[in-house]
Amino acid sequence: MSSANIKRIGIITSGGDCGGLNAVIKGAAQMAFNNGIDVRVIPNGYASLYNLVEIESLPVLTSDRLDSFSSDLAGSEAGHSRVKISKIKDPNKFDRIREGMKKHAIDALVISGGDDTGSVMVDLSEHGIKCVHAPKTMDLDLQTYSVGGDSTINRIARFASDLRTTGRTHNRAIVLEVFGRYAGHTAFRGGVAADADCILIPEIPVDFDEVYKHYKETFMRRVRSSDVKAGTYLIIVAEGMTDAAGQSITDDTFGADAFGHKKLSGAAKYVRRQIEERAKKDAQIKEFMKETGMFVDGMYENPEIREVNPGHLVRCGETSAYDVSFGRSVGAAAVSLLIKGLTGVTVAEVSGSEIHYMPAKVAIEQRFVDLDEVSLYETLGTCFGRKPVNFKPSFVEDKAKIKRIY
Ligand code: F6P
Repeated sequence: MSSANIKRIGIITSGGDCGGLNAVIKGAAQMAFNNGIDVRVIPNGYASLYNLVEIESLPVLTSDRLDSFSSDLAGSEAGHSRVKISKIKDPNKFDRIREGMKKHAIDALVISGGDDTGSVMVDLSEHGIKCVHAPKTMDLDLQTYSVGGDSTINRIARFASDLRTTGRTHNRAIVLEVFGRYAGHTAFRGGVAADADCILIPEIPVDFDEVYKHYKETFMRRVRSSDVKAGTYLIIVAEGMTDAAGQSITDDTFGADAFGHKKLSGAAKYVRRQIEERAKKDAQIKEFMKETGMFVDGMYENPEIREVNPGHLVRCGETSAYDVSFGRSVGAAAVSLLIKGLTGVTVAEVSGSEIHYMPAKVAIEQRFVDLDEVSLYETLGTCFGRKPVNFKPSFVEDKAKIKRIY
């Protein structure tokens, strides 16, 4: 029995699926076994937590059951829903949850998810339910690192690099739209990793005249200098991009998810249209098409631009090695924190034998892309949809502050 008298835990994963969740489940379960604690899966996120009292039995995690799925498989063996407990009308919802937990003899919860999931966890903890949060979101917009981010960035970089062959073969610019909601972390990191020419993130309202200028110069230079007159131009756009006035470009027809978030869509299409409109009116583009032997009257007067929206492909499939090890460690650490008697906290990281954690309320505050870092890549030639800002480094000699990934 643990010092906090925990004999059985329930594991919940919630929000958007991504890489690393199965690693969290395994890490938590293995640490629980090591401490003589039983483990149950509470399937399909908070939906089943709310309905626990009506559920007959829960899946038992054993070592054999853990062997049946691998840590490097994205998605979650526990299943998800986007149910936000605080939005359930039932005034007795927390009593009902406590009753359900009692029925299944669950003493505490390990909950993995992003800001919405974390905010529910804060509510649960404030209502006397013991729980610890293992950070997860491909959006990477928590204060801590969160599993799923690295896997998604790797996938975005792979898709973007692969699309270059299609782009170059057809002399097309490619606009790749990626998830991330209102933070541009995965577009930014994935775009940098893919050597993208232009990265458009929600943190910077987009000036399309700047984008067009960069596109035109870069694309024309590439085609002109190629002996086979081939070139492409790669744009990664975050779904939450805004126009120059800072207005969302998503139309409202897509509705909202169960958490109440507007479903974002249409950023890549918007970008394509902005560039096409400018190219059509640009006499220099026609000259360029003629000069490079591509112009065919009425048929091929402007270079093509295509949008690609991989949607959920950026967060499914495989999990990166980094996310597996981070996921297993934070899953395990969440159980250690419960055993220690803590609740309502988020695991930040495990460093040596130290488990770093913080109040979940703080951990879920939204974090945006650091624009000083953006200016480094602007100085290196990447367009971010604004007039480039020069990178101005400061020089710091302070080994204690060095943040290692491995
Ligand atoms: O929050 C993660 C996320 O992938 C967002 O980047 C994206 O907007 C959203 O989930 C999509 O959610 P769903 O799978 O519910 O459509």
